[in-house]
Amino acid sequence: MLQSPWISRQRVVPFWGQNVKMDRFNFYKLMTLLVGSIIVIQAPKWTNSFIMRHYKLSLGIEAINLTQTKDPLKLFKMWRDEANTLSTLNPRPDVVTIATLGEDGPSTQIVMLRDISDTGFKFYVTTPVTKNLAQNNISFTVVWTFKKSEETFGMRYITVHGITEKIPVNETKELFKLETPTSKIRLILQSQKNDKKQNLSERLQPLLDMYNQNPKQFHKQEMPSEWSGYIIKPKTLEFFQGTKATLGQRIKFSKKSDVKNNSTNLLSDGACGGEKGWIFQVMEP
Ligand SMILES: Cc1cc2nc3c(=O)[nH]c(=O)nc-3n(C[C@H](O)[C@H](O)[C@H](O)COP(=O)(O)O)c2cc1C
Ligand SMILES: *[C@@H]1O[C@H](CO)[C@@H](O)[C@H](O)[C@H]1NC(C)=O
Ligand SMILES: *[C@@H]1O[C@H](CO)[C@@H](O)[C@H](O)[C@H]1NC(C)=O
Ligand SMILES: *[C@@H]1O[C@H](CO)[C@@H](O)[C@H](O)[C@H]1NC(C)=O
Ligand SMILES: *[C@@H]1O[C@H](CO)[C@@H](O)[C@H](O)[C@H]1NC(C)=O
Ligand SMILES: *[C@@H]1O[C@H](CO)[C@@H](O)[C@H](O)[C@H]1NC(C)=O
Ligand SMILES: *[C@@H]1O[C@H](CO)[C@@H](O)[C@H](O)[C@H]1NC(C)=O
Repeated sequence: MLQSPWISRQRVVPFWGQNVKMDRFNFYKLMTLLVGSIIVIQAPKWTNSFIMRHYKLSLGIEAINLTQTKDPLKLFKMWRDEANTLSTLNPRPDVVTIATLGEDGPSTQIVMLRDISDTGFKFYVTTPVTKNLAQNNISFTVVWTFKKSEETFGMRYITVHGITEKIPVNETKELFKLETPTSKIRLILQSQKNDKKQNLSERLQPLLDMYNQNPKQFHKQEMPSEWSGYIIKPKTLEFFQGTKATLGQRIKFSKKSDVKNNSTNLLSDGACGGEKGWIFQVMEP
């Protein structure tokens, strides 16, 4: 039966295949390839529990536990929250780098995810045209780093591939309402970037005045029409985590409906059933 390699305690394996024999084979092959025969002799030291414990003890981040969730969006949010709480190195864990293929070729841009739900990831931008965002392929990566000392550090990344869809203006406006005053000022100024008549401080002053005179009124500021919102409907999500002292864990979720059911497909290649229409596959670290 297809089952998560991390579900039962005896087979709590960060990344190996589905059964014990396969595990050993991959394990030694990997060790031989990576660090040579001396380390292979010491291989028993590298037990799974050692690796798992090390994640927790050193940085607070835990090994991926698929018993807790097999829903990639939920896992995304868990990691995002942990990037906030377990480390001071990620002050804005919602900031990601999107990549698109536009009219001018490939481009990347840093944006802030404004909402994460089962449907996808919402963000807004002022420059949608050249990025070709409407109904297009998109990919984004977010990296979170964890550091306790020069010797104790780790990282997580998530790479998402999906399709963008424009979100209705009224919904984008709802997202704008959630912004802090400083963000609102920044977003309003950013949307005036083609205004050559006034310099930045001239444009900033009335906004500051407005806020200082009546913060409540300022909060009712509408989103400038230059901003447009998009949702990334994910098709795949790849999670990686590793620390200096451990091997990496890498796992890839795909939409079950996107995967063809034939002999070369993911399902016959060790993929397991996830939740909410997702399947997942354990990758080499
Ligand atoms: C932390 C951070 C968050 C950002 N979030 C957004 C965003 O959500 N949307 C956006 O359009 N630009 C965002 N930017 C700015 C863009 O990365 C980029 O500088 C800007 O979009 C350039 O716009 P332009 O090419 O139209 O001049 C952010 C920048 C930083 C540093
Ligand atoms: C994974 O989570 C389950 C449910 O919370 C828990 O019982 C189990 O001990 C966890 N496994 C590991 C290896 O942490
Ligand atoms: C995304 O890219 C794939 C592969 O090139 C293509 O088949 C598909 O039509 C694209 N989807 C959209 C919405 O552009
Ligand atoms: C936006 O408008 C549509 C119809 O025009 C409506 O169905 C939807 O509920 C509105 N969303 C919000 C957040 O107001
Ligand atoms: C912007 O305009 C103000 C008022 O006209 C002026 O005092 C200031 O020097 C200008 N700043 C720049 C950078 O041009
Ligand atoms: C794939 O095909 C097999 C055999 O027809 C079937 O038992 C299985 O349920 C299918 N899996 C999916 C995900 O559709
Ligand atoms: C199985 O799926 C792969 C990938 O979609 C495709 O290239 C291949 O032709 C399919 N094989 C059969 C027998 O349908």
